Amino acid sequence: MTTLRCRCERLWLRGLRLVFRFDAWHASAPYSCRPYKSKVVELVNALAPATAVEVGCGLGEILSRVTASERFGFDTDRAVIRAARFLHGDQVHWIHADFAAVALSLPQQRRIDCLIMVNWIHNISPEQLWACLLPLLPRLRWLIVDAIDRDGPASYRFKHDFAFLSAVAGRVSTTHISGEPRTLIVFKVAQ
Ligand SMILES: C[S@@+](CC[C@H](N)C(=O)[O-])C[C@H]1O[C@@H](n2cnc3c(N)ncnc32)[C@H](O)[C@@H]1O
Repeated sequence: MTTLRCRCERLWLRGLRLVFRFDAWHASAPYSCRPYKSKVVELVNALAPATAVEVGCGLGEILSRVTASERFGFDTDRAVIRAARFLHGDQVHWIHADFAAVALSLPQQRRIDCLIMVNWIHNISPEQLWACLLPLLPRLRWLIVDAIDRDGPASYRFKHDFAFLSAVAGRVSTTHISGEPRTLIVFKVAQ
């Protein structure tokens, strides 16, 4: 059931979209309408990261609620990055960049305690995912991703099993999201 809060947030973001012109998806799926987002926040905060990085951060609804002292949000869409900065201010570093550029865009010595990538990696192949993750692994401790169920809708192009991570990271927890074909997975990267 759509709650009143969810409806209000949708209305607010539809209005904001008229100004910032970000993709319609963001106005259709605010925080209170999509329980997976608060579950990600809970999983990240339980790890108590000092530095958290979210790639594909959208409007920053997840990252802005993460309690890390250093936060970096990356997105390829310049419009959502502008809107995220407007919504949450400069306490988070909002960066317009593709996943492939994250390793170069972050300060060189910066360790990443937690890397978050949810609700977009189903659009890229395991090979692309691995190629972009590889340069980040030496400085990465925890990774939180979502996996689409094997029998989930065909519109989700790639249903990752993350087999390519087995040599470098261990699965710590899996959380299926009720009402969605989605499981959140926490990996711990071997050091
Ligand atoms: C469906 S939205 C999800 C946003 C956020 N993760 C959430 O769950 O609220 C996906 C976001 O990923 C971004 N994105 C897609 N491919 C990307 C890439 N290769 N690098 C960085 N961001 C990407 C899109 O621009 C979009 O803002």
